[in-house]
Amino acid sequence: MTDLFSGEVIVVTGAASGIGAATARALARSGAKVVLADRADCADLAESLSGHAVRVDVSDEASVAALMREAGSITGSIHGLVNNAGVTCEVTIDATTAEDFQRMMAVNAMGTLFGIKHGARWMRGTGTIVNTASLAGMVGIAGYGSYAASKAAVISLTQTAAMEYGPRGIRVNCICPSSVETPMLHAQANAAAERALSRLSSPLGKVMTADEVAAVILFLASPLSQAMTGQALNVDGGGSAGWSMALLGALIGEDEVVDHNPTRKPGDASVVAQAGRDSDRAKHE
Ligand SMILES: NC(=O)c1ccc[n+]([C@@H]2O[C@H](COP(=O)([O-])OP(=O)(O)OC[C@H]3O[C@@H](n4cnc5c(N)ncnc54)[C@H](O)[C@@H]3O)[C@@H](O)[C@H]2O)c1
Repeated sequence: MTDLFSGEVIVVTGAASGIGAATARALARSGAKVVLADRADCADLAESLSGHAVRVDVSDEASVAALMREAGSITGSIHGLVNNAGVTCEVTIDATTAEDFQRMMAVNAMGTLFGIKHGARWMRGTGTIVNTASLAGMVGIAGYGSYAASKAAVISLTQTAAMEYGPRGIRVNCICPSSVETPMLHAQANAAAERALSRLSSPLGKVMTADEVAAVILFLASPLSQAMTGQALNVDGGGSAGWSMALLGALIGEDEVVDHNPTRKPGDASVVAQAGRDSDRAKHE
């Protein structure tokens, strides 16, 4: 336990599961009074962390305003906010409905907007906001158009909020993870291919854990990052930094490149290649 956030009230949305739950645990270990907010029940987790559980639907502005009122009334102010609740949608643009797109924007983009708007009102003189965007908001990923657009909106809102709230002492940053081992990834139809691609394309040769992502959120929420605002940090094992040797191997032949990373599994390249062939075949059927 450290006292990085000693006594600070920090709201985490999407705290019932995955990255949000890991962040709530890490914040509590670092001394914060955590407000765990989710549309799902997280009362047991909140109790185990001596925190507070609040039911919220982040796509509903009145619900978010009520969450912030409740959190703000604990000590009279909110010191930190992690806008992390999110949903995903695996569908090509060709098959996307208006409802698909609206749901992604309502939860991921508007949920972040409402969180910033109503959370910042309870920050007195200083505060930090960390938004969970995605690498999908930075680069195109086939089959994730609506999700990616909503996460690009999160990155853009982060930049604008940094400009508007900086003069009030509030810093706003976001993280852009690639694949993270959470229930969201487990539920995806292409989870095996996504894991294999993550191991291949990142020089660290890995799929991120929720605890690893939570550690970056804590850095951005803490004074350790006090010189930073308006930034989008990729949390992707270095996958966006360049072409890994293993990915090059998958492209030009595994025997042609030397890859010393012991964490990759033999056959990752063929899993990704097969997923690509399946996807191409599906598009032409
Ligand atoms: N897992 C990944 O690979 C990955 C990669 C990049 C970004 N992300 C982002 O990380 C964030 C956390 O995702 P996760 O992987 O931990 O998934 P998860 O499904 O484990 O957790 C998401 C949480 O958000 C909550 N939630 C969903 N809609 C809500 C709403 N309208 N109101 C309140 N709560 C709501 C869910 O109940 C759930 O507890 C999301 O924003 C997601 O888009 C995840």
